[in-house]
Amino acid sequence: MTAQPADKVQRSFSRSFDTYHDTASQQAWVADKLVSELRRVGAPGQFRTAFEMGCGTGHLTRTLRQNFDLPDLVLNDIAPQAQATADAEAAVFIAGDVRMVQWPGQIDLIASASMIQWMDDPTGLLQQAVDALAPGGWLAISGFGPQQYKELTSIGSTAQAPGLCGADALVAAIEGSMRVLTAGERIRPSYFETPRDVLKYLRRTGVNGRAQGAWTKSTLARFEKDYVRSFATDDGVSLTYHPVWIIAQKQ
Ligand SMILES: C[S@@+](CC[C@H](N)C(=O)[O-])C[C@H]1O[C@@H](n2cnc3c(N)ncnc32)[C@H](O)[C@@H]1O
Repeated sequence: MTAQPADKVQRSFSRSFDTYHDTASQQAWVADKLVSELRRVGAPGQFRTAFEMGCGTGHLTRTLRQNFDLPDLVLNDIAPQAQATADAEAAVFIAGDVRMVQWPGQIDLIASASMIQWMDDPTGLLQQAVDALAPGGWLAISGFGPQQYKELTSIGSTAQAPGLCGADALVAAIEGSMRVLTAGERIRPSYFETPRDVLKYLRRTGVNGRAQGAWTKSTLARFEKDYVRSFATDDGVSLTYHPVWIIAQKQ
């Protein structure tokens, strides 16, 4: 039986769990950005019941804990190792695919950083979140937009996450049922000495969960050549990140 995409994504993040946290500086940036935006638009100091989807090693969890009073914090991740994040943050952990698990009731904050791009239907998950929020509840979500890893896409990689969407698509998904307080996006390039360093980096962060097939000597050589030819800069070869985010309140 072939593995389903969610299984592959889970295995990939589980494998890289120990190396993810210190490597994923772009994801750390967007988690901090989400929390600073929450504060900027006037989020309350306390959310009684908070639910974080795809908490991973806790970039967002830690920042949320530092900035808000969260008496009833529930974390979810498809990778069972994320139980350690819940233990460290005195939170309840729900393991499993967020689309399948039982969510808490009457949620005051639903938050997630760098996870919805793994959904085939990010809009469906956002709608599920809108329905699960208590009246007046807040939504703070980040993902990645269509420019994410544009270098890899342009040279034929199949590893791209399925649910890349721009800030306008996030807004369109919820604006009928929530008051959108802010939405934004950034293009943030990273630079690496060689294309092989790009691959190593992706492996260490586990974001290559949908990559298909193994490298051969010749496919690797072709990849390196194409990458350098198209994306060499004075700072090394580029890899583009395209973080997007939205913060909204249920009316
Ligand atoms: C790029 S990491 C982000 C982790 C953390 N939120 C952060 O900002 O660093 C994506 C996380 O989403 C989790 N994930 C992916 N698909 C998921 C799903 N269907 N349900 C729950 N978690 C999922 C992965 O296991 C991983 O921990």
